[in-house]
Amino acid sequence: MIDILENVATRWLSRRAEPQPTAVAAVRDLTPAVVITGGSSGIGLALAHQFAKYAQAIVLIARTQNRLDRAVIALATEYPGIRVEPLLLDIGRPDAVEIIAAWLTEKRLYCDVLVNNAGVGQSGPFSASDPSGLDAVIATNIAAVARLTRAMLPDMLARGRGGILSISSLGALIPGPHQATYYASKAFVVSLSEAIRSEVAGRGVRIAVVLPGPVETRFHARMNAEGALYRHFLKAASPERVAALAMRGYRLGRGVIAPGMIPTLAIPVLRILPHAVTVPVVRWLLDTGRPLLPGDRAR
Ligand SMILES: NC(=O)c1ccc[n+]([C@@H]2O[C@H](COP(=O)([O-])OP(=O)(O)OC[C@H]3O[C@@H](n4cnc5c(N)ncnc54)[C@H](OP(=O)(O)O)[C@@H]3O)[C@@H](O)[C@H]2O)c1
Repeated sequence: MIDILENVATRWLSRRAEPQPTAVAAVRDLTPAVVITGGSSGIGLALAHQFAKYAQAIVLIARTQNRLDRAVIALATEYPGIRVEPLLLDIGRPDAVEIIAAWLTEKRLYCDVLVNNAGVGQSGPFSASDPSGLDAVIATNIAAVARLTRAMLPDMLARGRGGILSISSLGALIPGPHQATYYASKAFVVSLSEAIRSEVAGRGVRIAVVLPGPVETRFHARMNAEGALYRHFLKAASPERVAALAMRGYRLGRGVIAPGMIPTLAIPVLRILPHAVTVPVVRWLLDTGRPLLPGDRAR
């Protein structure tokens, strides 16, 4: 059934597609790849397993060699029929786009689907935030998403096919005291994705954004948020379930994907309720008790 619905969605999304013969010919001898940033763990790795069922090649990008190696071995073992290629790279580097483009050419691959998944968080009061951590959130969650999307989209439009799936968060819909920069960065991803989807409607390229609630990955510990109340009050979904639902929504041509019951219920509520009501609740859930200034007493 889902195959039929996917075909219907593809026809609708391609109703104004204008494949250019030169663009199609340029990739005739290359292998189409699904390029997944942050593909070595958590949601990105789970998405790699989903895409591996349909793709000819998967490219996993991350910064830590041993985790990347483990992810490649796991994927290649489970899906021996496809190419799995690791690229060790910090996508927050200003030259990341050029590095990826040159590397794909060298490997005789081209980006058919881009998954903007890599993301980092930062928890604690904004006034006490580490400036380098703040830069990392902006470089990874905002700049890299915009630059990579800008780099890959024109060729996809010229071929009249392709897709860009970006991982945002439920936090995109509300300001997040104690994770202020992270929540704002995810709002950027939703806004960018929905705007581009409208611009390219019907031209054959799927543009989708996923808004997960809490997911059980290393993400929370890495930003030192394990002490926050949301980790105790909100049940975290598994990355595998989030990835399976994201893939389903992507295949069905959805623009905004709510992966699971919490996001499905929360998205309309968060869009309707005023921030005066929601922000204090979010602040209570995200607070780790760290002080606003180094000299202040911890709460
Ligand atoms: N976990 C949640 O509750 C949750 C909820 C909503 C949305 N999300 C979003 O889901 C996405 C994936 O998060 P996750 O929970 O799966 O976290 P994760 O397990 O920490 O995975 C993050 C992945 O991104 C990679 N990465 C991080 N920064 C990178 C950079 N600058 N360049 C290249 N790779 C980078 C990491 O590998 P290296 O560190 O080795 O580079 C890792 O592969 C993020 O965008 C996150 O904001 C997560």
